[in-house]
Amino acid sequence: MIQFSSAPSYPCYIVFISKNDSLHNVYADDSIKNTVQSIQKKEEFANIPPFPLWQENKIWIFFPIAEDIKIDEIKSIPEKIHQLLQSYKQSSASLYIDSFPQTLQSELLESLYCSQYRFDNFFGSVTKAEHEQKKYITNFTLEIIAPENNEYKALYDGINLTKDLVNLPPSLVHPEYFVQEAEKKLANIKNITMRVLLEHELTSLGMNGIVSVGKCAKSSPRMLVVEYFPTPAKNPLVVVGKGVTYDTGGLSLKTGGSMRHMKRDMAGAATALGSIFAAAQLKLQNNIVAIMPLAENAIGPNAYKPDDIITMANGVTVEVTNTDAEGRLLLGDALWYAQKNYTPSAIIDFATLTGACQYAVGDEISAVFCNNDTLMNRLQEVAKKTHEPIWQLPLYAPYKKKIRSKVADIVNAASDFPAGTMQAALFLEHFIENSTVWAHFDIAFTAFDKKSELATARHVKTIIELLKTS
Ligand code: BES
Ligand code: ZN
Ligand code: ZN
Repeated sequence: MIQFSSAPSYPCYIVFISKNDSLHNVYADDSIKNTVQSIQKKEEFANIPPFPLWQENKIWIFFPIAEDIKIDEIKSIPEKIHQLLQSYKQSSASLYIDSFPQTLQSELLESLYCSQYRFDNFFGSVTKAEHEQKKYITNFTLEIIAPENNEYKALYDGINLTKDLVNLPPSLVHPEYFVQEAEKKLANIKNITMRVLLEHELTSLGMNGIVSVGKCAKSSPRMLVVEYFPTPAKNPLVVVGKGVTYDTGGLSLKTGGSMRHMKRDMAGAATALGSIFAAAQLKLQNNIVAIMPLAENAIGPNAYKPDDIITMANGVTVEVTNTDAEGRLLLGDALWYAQKNYTPSAIIDFATLTGACQYAVGDEISAVFCNNDTLMNRLQEVAKKTHEPIWQLPLYAPYKKKIRSKVADIVNAASDFPAGTMQAALFLEHFIENSTVWAHFDIAFTAFDKKSELATARHVKTIIELLKTS
């Protein structure tokens, strides 16, 4: 391997080759010859050296891979590329993926884009140097050369927006900040319009669920509505996302470690925003609306209380039995708003809604409830393709009586109904009109990866794939 004693920067090109090829017979191999020839056709690379690895101040890295390479190994390729380039002391490279097995190219692109995500702005004087030395080359750039590269770039712009919003600390990402970030990101994008409903507007619309949850926090509750309408006459897909920027539990305060990572409680809203951002960047032709009720479930003299009764926007009255079951209050009003203002082809909501979800489906699968078999089948199909597993749970109507209240219509948390994930879904169903096609995703444990302690942006790909194929 060539080692540079100093660190001059050379144009550096990486090409995959079959594992069976030793570097000495690489160029005799037809597939690599074809790849190199096809690259040579591109003007700027007219003079590719046949061999050796570097010539005229250019470096060629031939990266061996097995034809039957497994997904797990594909996930480790970005790290290996980093290591290689580090040993060549290069900080940028062009990576050609033409010669990678065709059927696995999308997996490779995904792992490359995922690996480029960084959440390191908060590494301070103690960690920063050590972190960079160990793992990354500062300002390392990898130019990926693949036909669908622009598409992936647009998709990952959306995914990374979702991740950043979830990962950032909760004292920064309050409702006002969320809206400001959305305004920055979406400014001047074609076919996008934005509306923000402030607290007094929510109150005058009777959206007391959102107002009650958010009214005592320093940053007041609000609702962000984004439309992407490239084809105005078509009914939109409406994506609704729970945006609790921090969930302390409210007066029914979360105890022990259970408040940890509750910055993730706006992951549904971040999923909705990331999806519509990606859809617009990809210039998809299907209409989509993102509705994001935003509130912080805080504690203070003006906090909503257990025993309060809230009249929701659709007229349903809710007795608050636990202020920690706040997400359904936000979503109830947002779902009402979606049906009042649009004729959705379908509504899909995303919410980190219940702790019980980890007992129902664990942390790799999102629980999904759906009132329409056609939509459910489509979701299954798409989720399989995007490797974002879902499992359907029932909206079992006889259980609805379990959430009836003695002093109002329904309670927000029933004490004798341990199937908490279904309980929340049945609550939401009170806000869905008969004719509305609807699916609810509980992403409480899939939106955030316990091990890395980072957001996953799970289901942005699902929404994009659904839009692409409808
Ligand atoms: N945001 C939580 C749900 C949650 C728990 C998300 C763990 C991610 C990880 C939600 O607002 C909540 O607290 N739900 C309660 C409802 C209960 C009081 C009926 C829960 O699940 O404990
Ligand atoms: Zn809660
Ligand atoms: Zn919550």
